[in-house]
Amino acid sequence: MNKVDVVLGSFYGDEGKGKIIDYLSQKSDISVRCTGGNNAGHSIEIDGKKFAFHLIPSGILNKGTLAVIGNGVVIDPKVLIEEMENVENNGYSVENLRISDRAHVIFPYHIEMDRLQEELRKDDKIGTTCRGIGPVYCDKYERSGIRMGDFVNKKYEKQLRKNVESKNKIFEMYGHKTLDVEEILKEYNEYADKLKKYVVDTVYLLHDALQSGKKILCEGAQATLLDIDFGSYPYVTSSNPSIGGICTGTGIGAKYIGEVYGVLKAYSSRVGEGPYLTEQKNEIGDKIRELGHEYGTTTKRPRRCGWLDLVALKYATVLNGITGLAINHVDTIGKLPEIKLCVGYKKNGKVSMQFSTDADYLADCEPVYETFEGNFGDISNAKTRDELPEKAKAYLNRIEEVVGVPVKFIGTGAGRDCMIVC
Ligand code: IMO
Ligand code: MG
Repeated sequence: MNKVDVVLGSFYGDEGKGKIIDYLSQKSDISVRCTGGNNAGHSIEIDGKKFAFHLIPSGILNKGTLAVIGNGVVIDPKVLIEEMENVENNGYSVENLRISDRAHVIFPYHIEMDRLQEELRKDDKIGTTCRGIGPVYCDKYERSGIRMGDFVNKKYEKQLRKNVESKNKIFEMYGHKTLDVEEILKEYNEYADKLKKYVVDTVYLLHDALQSGKKILCEGAQATLLDIDFGSYPYVTSSNPSIGGICTGTGIGAKYIGEVYGVLKAYSSRVGEGPYLTEQKNEIGDKIRELGHEYGTTTKRPRRCGWLDLVALKYATVLNGITGLAINHVDTIGKLPEIKLCVGYKKNGKVSMQFSTDADYLADCEPVYETFEGNFGDISNAKTRDELPEKAKAYLNRIEEVVGVPVKFIGTGAGRDCMIVC
């Protein structure tokens, strides 16, 4: 029986998971989103057409690949329908889309609550994407959420009325705008009708596919250090974007998991607040941001940028059982004359590989850097790792050596083909 391959983010998101997913999904029968919602975002360029995917697995663009939105995903129906229309308007079909009946639905009160909570956090804000992600997962766990199956079968009105009433009480208390339940019902009933034919029990769909030898790819969204359990709490997202979320977000058992690809960039970046040891709040960080076009796909915010942190990467590797690394933007880092690589943290005079998501622990840790030669030149035409310049090889070899996991993919440029498969 085929095993399920998984693509995960190793840091704080935006590692370029889309590029690896795009490649692997062309070799898969099914591509699945497992966690998160439209806080995620990756863009793909095919035949000169640009697609920004937030919810639909990008496998939808491959004829014959089934694109599944799993039960662990939270869905803003309005955004999903817009995305479906965009795919169709560009000459592709969405007939191959399947949505889990257990996925939870994001309503306007989740988005308003996200905004209000960020406002109330004042100086301690998380820097969320304000897409309603935290509040919809709260409702899920509080057991007042509305799931896709009930939504498209119009069995959600009673719960919706209760939810809007209780949320409005909170909004009123803080002088925030309240919502009109009749308006929501009218608008969302139309969305329910549009989405109904795509909603199925994806657990059986995936199991049957596995039994019949189909190849499944799980597309991770967000990343390990944004994980609600293992990330830098509270500056995290409200789901488990690490390996556990792949199982709970799909209903696929752990024994079916095969390769786990950890995606990273040859440097690092972060959006939103929270500790970030190798951040370069200086002209180097600015330079990386410009060279790597580090501005959010979802919120357009400029990303914080810095050097690659192997202490954090090792943590992600161990947590997820990563079997192969996918390193993007090797071309980008190679444009700098000199590159630094964090290979340990120094604390109280001692160097270790001990990562922590505790801000107090990190506060007096100092990154220990090794310096590498940059100026790789144009590497976009390299088809094998061997063809890379020695300077690039030295950098990649060191990453592999410290982390103890082989490099399987090397991103050498922006184009779809600019990737070395090792
Ligand atoms: P992809 O899939 C980068 C960050 C937000 C914020 C925190 C919580 O593109 O890698 P949320 O709206 O999820 O409650 O925000 O998580 N965040 C991301 N940062 N890429 C993402 O997804 C992200 N999804 C959430 O910036 O700091
Ligand atoms: Mg992103």
